Amino acid sequence: MARAMVLIWAWCTLFATTCVNGLGVNWGTQASSPLDPKYVVQMLKDNKIKKVKLFDSDHWTVNHFAGTGIEVMLSIPNLNLKKFSDDYDAVQDYVKENVSDHLHDHGGVIIKYIAVGNEPFLKAYKGQFEKTIFPALKNVQKALNEAGLGHKIKATIPQNADVYNSGTAGPSAGNFRADIRDLMVKISRFLDQNKAPFMVNIYPFLSLYENENFPVEFAFFEGGGKGVQDGNIQYTNMLDANLDTLTYSLKKAGAPNVKIIVGEIGWPTDGHKQANANMAQKFYSGLLKKLASNQGTPLHPGYIEVYLFSLTDENMKSVAPGHFERHWGIFRYDGQPKYPLDFSGQGNEQMPVGAKHVKYMTRQWCALKDDVKNLKMMKGNMDYACSLGDCTSLSKGSTCEDLSERNKVSYAFNMYFQMNEQSVEACDFDGAAKITKHNFSDDECLFPVQIMSGARKGVAGILSGVVGFMIMLMVLF
Ligand SMILES: *[C@@H]1O[C@H](CO)[C@@H](O)[C@H](O)[C@H]1NC(C)=O
Ligand SMILES: *[C@@H]1O[C@H](CO)[C@@H](O)[C@H](O)[C@H]1NC(C)=O
Repeated sequence: MARAMVLIWAWCTLFATTCVNGLGVNWGTQASSPLDPKYVVQMLKDNKIKKVKLFDSDHWTVNHFAGTGIEVMLSIPNLNLKKFSDDYDAVQDYVKENVSDHLHDHGGVIIKYIAVGNEPFLKAYKGQFEKTIFPALKNVQKALNEAGLGHKIKATIPQNADVYNSGTAGPSAGNFRADIRDLMVKISRFLDQNKAPFMVNIYPFLSLYENENFPVEFAFFEGGGKGVQDGNIQYTNMLDANLDTLTYSLKKAGAPNVKIIVGEIGWPTDGHKQANANMAQKFYSGLLKKLASNQGTPLHPGYIEVYLFSLTDENMKSVAPGHFERHWGIFRYDGQPKYPLDFSGQGNEQMPVGAKHVKYMTRQWCALKDDVKNLKMMKGNMDYACSLGDCTSLSKGSTCEDLSERNKVSYAFNMYFQMNEQSVEACDFDGAAKITKHNFSDDECLFPVQIMSGARKGVAGILSGVVGFMIMLMVLF
């Protein structure tokens, strides 16, 4: 064992390669100011991350990955499933515009998978995608096949892990959820016939969040806790148990050879007492070490293809699942790392490489004026700021929970101000707020300064450029 470790270490050091084979990461952009894709490309390269999973197929974003050697997974949002299920022409247009056209421009974008929908069988959706998801999947694969791409680009569906379960009996009792079993069997066999993978999102954090009695150590990879005994196999972590439950479910569905990919896995750092940087670091360190060792699961030893969730925080995600939802980033909103982590899985405690050259807005904040004494009067303003801004870090168990009541109001005002790109009108609150150069942050709680956005500024910039050009023409002629 020790010798094997030394060998792995020597290999990684000598060849300076990542030892987690082809590690992937999700990059969602539901943020008031998403990072510019060109910074993201550099960040991925600097951290030797080879694959990125996007949540749409935005042309401008995808283009940035051309010629980079980074593999890109495109997604079709749930909103489009209905159209994609009954309008095959629309699917063909999509494949032409958002897939084929990228394969050649500027050295080409490497695309292997198209994710159709996202967790369509979540119980919260109350079955609304059950009629459209499978026809949409079939249409996308068909259009890929007809475009001559089917041998190298596969359509699949990112599934939430509760589409299958095993009760308390262990993985060998695994099977697809009864209410959608027939459909899952059809989907699994379709994936099998097309040599497409089954993609599943796995969240030990959510198991812990949803169940006070969930054995904490089972969420991690250090073998503590009692685990689950299944016949001769002792499962010591939830990831293994979960993946093997899926393997049994696929076997029972008559699709035993489908490759399994983990489409999302990660740990949030704020918004709940168990969402913090220490636990996230512990989770990822264990996960990456496990991936680097290629030990796989008891039923599937070897390489597992994994996409971490997520690259950066997203301060505009719905908080319906919980306040932690906006804090899944390994990196902060501005692409700076939150905690030491070694993506190569060798366990060296070092900071990941943050985004370089990110441009911030003016170094200023919005805060409650000192002469406002009656904080009760501020409730309406604060609720307003929080409903449109992001106050998840103020909630119980979060990084800004311990601020004074005054500073909590300032925090809310500042988030609203920053998320509105520091517009002067966004720091008024009936005259109770002022713009200040004073940084209220402490070691725990960050009062952020907004970054210059890539995406939106890009479009606005192009438009104003065009308008400017036209005005120039008008003046000249
Ligand atoms: C290409 O993808 C973008 C972003 O996901 C979408 O808005 C657009 O409608 C797609 N194009 C087609 C032809 O479907
Ligand atoms: C504000 O202070 C925090 C904590 O000291 C620091 O990390 C952050 O960089 C500061 N922000 C700015 C814009 O100077």
